[in-house]
Amino acid sequence: MQTSAPAKLILCGEHAVVYGCPALALPLADVRATALVTAGQHGEGLRLVAPDLNEAWSAHEQSANPLSELALEVAAQLGLGQADLTITLRSQIPVASGMGSGAAIATALVRALAMYAGQTWDADTIAALVYASEQRFHGTPSGIDNTVVAHERAIWFERRSPKPLIEPIAIGAPFTLVVGDTGVRSATHLPVGAVRTAWQADPARYEALFAAVATLVGQARSALAQGDHATLGTLLNQNQALLEQIGVSSLELERLVHAARAAGALGAKLSGAGWGGIMLALAPPAAAPTIAAALREAGAVRVLTTEVVP
Ligand code: MEV
Repeated sequence: MQTSAPAKLILCGEHAVVYGCPALALPLADVRATALVTAGQHGEGLRLVAPDLNEAWSAHEQSANPLSELALEVAAQLGLGQADLTITLRSQIPVASGMGSGAAIATALVRALAMYAGQTWDADTIAALVYASEQRFHGTPSGIDNTVVAHERAIWFERRSPKPLIEPIAIGAPFTLVVGDTGVRSATHLPVGAVRTAWQADPARYEALFAAVATLVGQARSALAQGDHATLGTLLNQNQALLEQIGVSSLELERLVHAARAAGALGAKLSGAGWGGIMLALAPPAAAPTIAAALREAGAVRVLTTEVVP
C-alpha cells in the first residue's frame, strides 16, 4: 500500500500568511515523498523506517517524535492501534529547504495508513491531521504547506478560524519556474519565530509590510488568471523586496535572485521560510536553460525547472 505526496512551492505571500494575509502556493508533482505500509513482525507494534536516512524506530518507544505521534494517532483513529505495522518513508524533497518536505512526508504517511485500513480520506481531513501535528511541533504554522500538499493543486490560501479559506486559482497561460536551492538548510520555525519577535517589537511596521504583501498577492492572482507574466514577474520582485524588509532573506538567496534576473527572469524571489532553502524565478520559456545555468554558476546546489499548466 504505497502512497505519495508532492513537494510544494509558495509563489508569493509567505510569512504574511501566518498573520492572516493571503498567499499563493503550488504543488510540485514531480518531486515527492512516499509511504509504504506493510505487515510487521508479531508484537512489534508500529515501526517507522526511513531507509534514506538509515533510521528505523518504534513509534511506541519514540512517541515524542512528530512522525511517531502522528502515526500512532492516525492508527488509533483507524482502529489499527494494536496492529503490527511497518511504515517505510522515503522522500525526494530536500529537508528544511522551503519545499514542504515535512508536510509531504506526513501527508503520505496518513494516506498510506488510511489506505491500509481500506479508507479514503478527503484532502481536508488529511490536511487537518497534518496541521494539528505541525502545530504541536512547530509553533505557529499558517497551514498553507499541509493544505497545498494534501489538495495537490494551485491554491489561494488564507488562515482563518475555525477553517482556512482555500480557493483553487485560475492559471490563464502556462508558465515556467526555475527553482534554485541555496543548499543552506534552515528549519521553518526559526525565521517564523524571528518574524514574530520582530512583529511584537514593532507591530505597526510589520503590519504595514504584511498589508503590502497582501495587496501584491491579490494582484498576482489576477495576473496569473490573465496570463500576464510580465506583471507577475514584477510582483514577485516586489515580494522579494518586502521579504528582505521582513528580515527573512539571506546573502545566498539574494545572490541567486540577482543571477536569475540578470539571466532574463521576469521576476525572482525566495520561496518558503527563507534564511536559506530555495528561491524561484519566473522564466520566459526560452530563457529557462540560461537561468538554470546562471543559478548553478551563482552557487545553487540543485536547480529544477517546472512548467505550471492551467
Ligand atoms: C513556510 O513554507 C511558509 C511560512 O509562511 C510559514 C507558514 O506559513 O506556516 C514561512
